[in-house]
Amino acid sequence: MNNFTFFSPTEFVFGRDTELQTGKLIRKHAARRVLIVYGGGSAVRSGLLGRIETSLDAAGVFHISMGGIQANPVDGPVYKGIEIARRNEIDLVLAVGGGSVIDTSKAIAAGVPYEGDFWDFYIGKAKVTKALRVAVVLTIPAAGSEGSGNSVITKESTRQKMSLRAPEQLRPVFAVMNPVLTFTLPAWQTAAGITDMMAHIFERYFTNTPAVTVADRMCEGVLQAIIEEAPKVITCPNGYDARANIMWCGMVAHNGTCGVGCEEDWATHFMEHEISAHYGVTHGAGLAVMFPAWLTWMANHHVERVALWAHRVWGVAEQSDLRAQALEGIARFKAFLQQIGMPTDFKSLGVPNPDIPLLVDSLHRNKGEYVGAYVRLTRKDSEEIYRLAL
Ligand code: NZQ
Ligand code: ZN
Repeated sequence: MNNFTFFSPTEFVFGRDTELQTGKLIRKHAARRVLIVYGGGSAVRSGLLGRIETSLDAAGVFHISMGGIQANPVDGPVYKGIEIARRNEIDLVLAVGGGSVIDTSKAIAAGVPYEGDFWDFYIGKAKVTKALRVAVVLTIPAAGSEGSGNSVITKESTRQKMSLRAPEQLRPVFAVMNPVLTFTLPAWQTAAGITDMMAHIFERYFTNTPAVTVADRMCEGVLQAIIEEAPKVITCPNGYDARANIMWCGMVAHNGTCGVGCEEDWATHFMEHEISAHYGVTHGAGLAVMFPAWLTWMANHHVERVALWAHRVWGVAEQSDLRAQALEGIARFKAFLQQIGMPTDFKSLGVPNPDIPLLVDSLHRNKGEYVGAYVRLTRKDSEEIYRLAL
């Protein structure tokens, strides 16, 4: 097991009606002036935004709102949010939504005290040393941004989708998680979120670090919980207990718990980010296409952990032919994805003719000569993996 520091100060407030506590939580965290950030309208239509505003008013908290954050969020609203926050002397950014809204809120929070361009943080030109506090009312379990210190933003002019990691500054101070708020999610978004949280575990499970039994068993356990609960939320969207389990899985999958002490991979995420940057697809759906392709390539190049995963997560019998064992696990994973309504190739993703040279160029320009850690992928390798997804 590798050395690690695990810093996770977020206060999670989980359960029915918990959004009614938002005002009190903001006061508890000694904030007084709040910028509420939300998405394209689901939080308005459900009445959630109104309930939060009432709760803030009751707690005597000043607030101003900025809506319209789109999925796969872009830089424009970040600049606007920074300007609004500075003008109104905001001390906490409250994200009401999913990964796109939370990541925009984190970018605003980092950008406000910084004199340069916030994009510097995303291209490694500057490090976040100070930020406004961020808090969350979560409406979709998927990205895990409610418990992570990460933010992913696309620069619209260059189609660069880049991530920033600053756990000490950007982990939310609190996250309100009411599973009832997820009842209104369309099946597609529910399934894409489920795929994303599974992918967050895979990125940690496929490691070369030896002796990480706790992380291994946590990954396997959370994956088994997702596999058990996912069909229930798809067939019965208003079932509280399955929604609650899936919501908590999404947090545990990405707040770092499942990867402590491991060298993590992340190649598949970076490959997907190129697809969502260039073709605007839903992140989780892009992962449903790329992960089977990455796993299939690994079955031919570094099979050990894939075979282990096939046995322990998908119940494939152990056999002397590890490749056959791994391929059976991948087939079961693909069948699961199809069962919950996800695409498993570019065509069913709605991108029948992807420009693979463009994706490969962009990937290695943004992420360097080698991508990933389980196997360090060269340009030739990443091109082969994209082609396996055709
Ligand atoms: O905009 P509204 O109208 O709210 O609709 C949203 C949006 O269209 C809708 N939605 C959310 N909650 C809803 C709802 N519709 C009905 N009822 C509700 N309760 O769902 C759509 C997707 O929302 P989004 O926030 O984009 O989803 P998600 O949480 O999957 O976030 C995706 C973004 O997060 C990034 C992804 O790359 C992508 O940009 N990621 C962020 C990570 C992080 N910060 O740690 C890690 C991830 O790997 C990921 O890369
Ligand atoms: Zn993800």
